[in-house]
Amino acid sequence: MSDDSATLFHNPDRNLALELVRATEAAAIRAVPWIGKGDKNAADKAAVDAMRAFLKTVDFDGVIVIGEGEKDEAPMLFNGEHVGSGDGPACDIAVDPIDGTSLTAAGRSHALSVLAVSDRGTMLDASSVFYMDKIVTGPEGKGVVDIRKPIGENIRALAAALGKDVADMRVAVLDRPRHEQLIADIRAAGAGTRLILDGDVAGGINAARRGTRIDMCVGIGGSPEGITTACAVKALGGFMQGRLAPKDDAERARGEAAGLDVDKVLEIEDMVSGDNTFFVATGVTDGALVAGVKRDGPIIRTESIVLRSKSGTMRRIEAEHLVEKWLEA
Ligand code: FBP
Repeated sequence: MSDDSATLFHNPDRNLALELVRATEAAAIRAVPWIGKGDKNAADKAAVDAMRAFLKTVDFDGVIVIGEGEKDEAPMLFNGEHVGSGDGPACDIAVDPIDGTSLTAAGRSHALSVLAVSDRGTMLDASSVFYMDKIVTGPEGKGVVDIRKPIGENIRALAAALGKDVADMRVAVLDRPRHEQLIADIRAAGAGTRLILDGDVAGGINAARRGTRIDMCVGIGGSPEGITTACAVKALGGFMQGRLAPKDDAERARGEAAGLDVDKVLEIEDMVSGDNTFFVATGVTDGALVAGVKRDGPIIRTESIVLRSKSGTMRRIEAEHLVEKWLEA
């Protein structure tokens, strides 16, 4: 082997996410009976229980740093809970057994099961403030957009970096009354909105990836989802900033008491530091990022993505599971 070809190879080590994907697959499969049944807590509980059971089988010592249960008192993999076999690397975990519980309960598209992992002590615990303002783009946004700038300015700057007309720019935003002005400003700048009913993790990932229908994802969503998104965007080499968005003075005080700098602009490195980050997601219902769970006679099909920051690799995993095995379990 020549020296040149040798440089093309990584020093291979374990990709934890390839084992963790079983947990998001299980959560997605177990949520299926609840799709369209109008009971988001039941869907979430089924996903949480399945995820917890599968996490136990993976050799690592995980601590949930950021979960999704506290915001709406959903059943949770609670903050501080230890998961994994207890052997192996010490890790921080962000979980969202279903990002899009309302979508799932309504039978709508774009619900995902999500998990992110990094080395112990590297993930920001932002759980005392429920919401975070976010901006996510592909790598072209680095040094070009800034959450402190008006949205119109950011859109024009990113369009120039991408070599696109502003009129062709597409900006994803959660469709919420709090974003009325933001949506008006995006349109006034000449760009188009892509309004998301729920699920800004997938929105952020699609903004960070090349070749998707979204150039930028902005606005206020959950802070747990923000940390999870940061793990994925880091692995994709994209750009993201966040800023906590306390809804009142009491929440601001809670954040400060927990040691958070509530006004700070958080770069990806502030949300998840180091270069050993993993992210996995499996589709619950069909979406732009991954297909949802499908029953095909004796087979259950799942689609997942697996990301790893050290290598920058994104894998798409299609799995076929035997229905009979899931009936036994
Ligand atoms: P869950 O399904 O985990 O509750 O989150 C859905 C979601 O749309 C997130 O993707 C987003 O970050 C957050 O809720 C926004 O919160 P809200 O619905 O309160 O605006």
